[in-house]
Amino acid sequence: MRIGILTGGGDCPGLNAVIRAVVRKAIDAYGDQVIGFRDGWRGVLEGSFEELTIDSTRGILPRGGTILGSSRTNPYKREDGVQRVRNILSDFNLDGLIAIGGEDTLGVANRLHGDGVKVIGVPKTIDNDLGGTDVTFGFDTALHIATEAIDRLHTTAESHNRILVVEVMGRTAGWIALHSGVAGGADVILIPEIPFDIDEVCRLIRRRHERGRYFSIVVAAEGATPKNGLMQVAQTGSTDEFGHVRLGGIGYALEREIEARTGFETRATVLGHVQRGGTPTAFDRVLATRLGLAAIDAVHEGKWGMMAALHSTHVELVPLADAVAEVRHVPVEQYQHFDVLFG
Ligand code: F6P
Repeated sequence: MRIGILTGGGDCPGLNAVIRAVVRKAIDAYGDQVIGFRDGWRGVLEGSFEELTIDSTRGILPRGGTILGSSRTNPYKREDGVQRVRNILSDFNLDGLIAIGGEDTLGVANRLHGDGVKVIGVPKTIDNDLGGTDVTFGFDTALHIATEAIDRLHTTAESHNRILVVEVMGRTAGWIALHSGVAGGADVILIPEIPFDIDEVCRLIRRRHERGRYFSIVVAAEGATPKNGLMQVAQTGSTDEFGHVRLGGIGYALEREIEARTGFETRATVLGHVQRGGTPTAFDRVLATRLGLAAIDAVHEGKWGMMAALHSTHVELVPLADAVAEVRHVPVEQYQHFDVLFG
């Protein structure tokens, strides 16, 4: 068979491990040829590609990012996008595509499947917010990076008796914030799922002072929002091709508000893309490899429109539609389970 593969959306540690696993098994076990499209759906639309071989994918397992490049291109935003995808598949004699991505890339894959394109999905995102799978690769790596940052901020917060606010990624789901905050012993954790009350945040910080702890760590997901409009958060107005606004600003807004309301010296750190870069953890390498192997098997079984997913300890196939039906949020009970540890 001739198979196309692409990586779309925000990059994520473990993407190269998927590519390597697909290429190894496709060539060695099935005798396939693998075409790697450059920069996500853009490469498919523009016919920009390279042939992937066992040699060209050697040594990429521990490398962050994606050797194929990525973009947030949406074929459905081009008038002739779907037809161009179909044309490329037939011009290149491709039997099908493997799309590695998050809600946007897999959302496109799901629509293309509905439009008759043969595609299999592999879920990725550091945000861990895709449906249909228990966890996404990239999350574990981001979590380790955020936790290490919180550990480092702890010692400087304590030395200066400061409040340190850490803004982590997570547009609509607070998985990184909650898990890194719990792992790092944060005093306040703010997630997009639960609008926060700035008065309550300040109450928890003041309570620590009353108990003789003159520093605090506040972890906020970039998508955390204040309730009651009691705080102004600046956001950039631009949107990508999937309609997402660029977030950022909650960390600095919290810095200003906490210092103004409590009088305690406060500083913000925005972790940003540090969370997405660098080498994947062992867990993410293994998960990404397992998903890649399952994806190429699914191609050979003709399971188009499906996605490789982790359920408990098993890798299984689920419909792409399940993955993109809705964002997988942090359950409120899971957050509340930890709130006794705050302040
Ligand atoms: O979807 C993953 C993610 O890292 C989000 O957490 C974040 O909001 C977004 O991507 C940032 O996107 P970009 O790298 O395009 O600014």
